[in-house]
Amino acid sequence: MSIATLILAAGQGSRMKSDLPKVLHKIAGAPMLWHTMQCAAQIEADQTIVVVGHGGEKTSDAAIEYDADAKIIWQKDQNGTGHAVQQAKAEMDDFDGDVIVLYGDTPFIRPETLQKMLEARAQNSVVVLGFEAANPAGYGRLQMNGQSLEAIVEAKDCSPEQLEVTFCNSGVICAPAPLLFSLLAEVGNDNANGEVYLTDIIAIARDRDLPCTAIACSEAETMGINSRKNLADAEAAFQQSARTATMENGVTLTAPDTVHFAFDTHIGRDTIIEPNVFFGLAVTIESGATIRAFSHLEGCHIARDCVVGPYARLRPGAELDLGAKVGNFVEIKAAQIEAGAKVNHLSYVGNARVGEGSNIGAGTIFCNYDGVNKHHTEIGKRVFIGSNSALVAPVRIADDGFIATGSVVTSDVPEGALAIARARLAIKPGLGKRMMDRLRAAKEANK
Ligand code: UD1
Ligand code: MG
Repeated sequence: MSIATLILAAGQGSRMKSDLPKVLHKIAGAPMLWHTMQCAAQIEADQTIVVVGHGGEKTSDAAIEYDADAKIIWQKDQNGTGHAVQQAKAEMDDFDGDVIVLYGDTPFIRPETLQKMLEARAQNSVVVLGFEAANPAGYGRLQMNGQSLEAIVEAKDCSPEQLEVTFCNSGVICAPAPLLFSLLAEVGNDNANGEVYLTDIIAIARDRDLPCTAIACSEAETMGINSRKNLADAEAAFQQSARTATMENGVTLTAPDTVHFAFDTHIGRDTIIEPNVFFGLAVTIESGATIRAFSHLEGCHIARDCVVGPYARLRPGAELDLGAKVGNFVEIKAAQIEAGAKVNHLSYVGNARVGEGSNIGAGTIFCNYDGVNKHHTEIGKRVFIGSNSALVAPVRIADDGFIATGSVVTSDVPEGALAIARARLAIKPGLGKRMMDRLRAAKEANK
């Protein structure tokens, strides 16, 4: 059976009080829409359709950035969830598989839960995902008769008795596409909001004697984001489960509550993460590495047995090969640090390759930017760069080169050569003390 996911993301999200479309606010470094799209990708949906409206250009760009094959459908006026789904009808005319409707602002639905819904679809025409709400306030209520779902009644349209129901609609619905659109064709907008409610398809399906059911998931999974407070709560929930999952995968977190993961952080077993480490998007770490306290990593790859930090910053394109070391107050950007190479203290390495076994001394700066363009620095194998050197790119230091401390290197250095570029040291015997004595005497005289 082929599957399509239809992600509703056209709503304004006015309670966010933001110029950014709600679904683009980030959780764990990624737009919340990506979390929903990832869930769709994990059930191997044959197609993903995103319905956009408010801030639709930006939403559609973000959707395409995550999945170049995602289809974008516009909903110009937001006339309700049913209306949003109807916009995809033309796009899905030839599709006779199951559609799963998801919300862009409900990012934590698990693929396993969608699988359960698909299984329940074998015996049912429509399957809805429900949850027991601690506070059911604004949710649609699921009217069950045993296993049979008879209707969904929106909170605003509920009788006092119906409001007592705590089994609520998460919004996720699964039905075969032709049936979904045929049911929707009968939905009106005679309700408290004057909107076309997707939820009305249940009562219509039951009128046609079609079997409908609801399966349950935890409330944490259906957490929806409507406000900045919800966003912060969602971030906390994500971090909590990422920490647990990371430890379950064999990674040591010495102070889990202080480590901040991204949406897509991958860490191999036997890696140790010390306190207060921050992961931005696109970090992969192989096994056995140590990430020491207060390091900030994004867009980088760290091979086995590397040591990073404390207080290191790895920016996009930082690539550390086997056993490389990057120490305190070091920033690495778009640079490969080959096996066993060391950049241990207070350096900036940008747009470069540092060859195997090379050592970059304290306070070395790779001067990669001339104010207009970025240039590359190439360091061969077993090169020694003395402390406080400036390498002015483009420049190349061949294998076994040696740069004397404090040099400003503006041209290529051949293999095995020593380069020294600094004023010669002059020693003036006795002059130091004579100068100090004179200064002290002058100060005394001026009192
Ligand atoms: C909806 C459900 C309710 C359920 C709740 C769960 C309906 C009628 N109600 O209510 O039963 O308990 O979600 O959170 O379905 N959207 C569009 N276009 C629109 C309207 C909405 O794309 O015209 C999108 C929104 O961006 C959002 C989602 O659909 O992602 C849900 O819309 P929202 O307005 O939040 O629905 P609720 O009133 O919360
Ligand atoms: Mg809502």
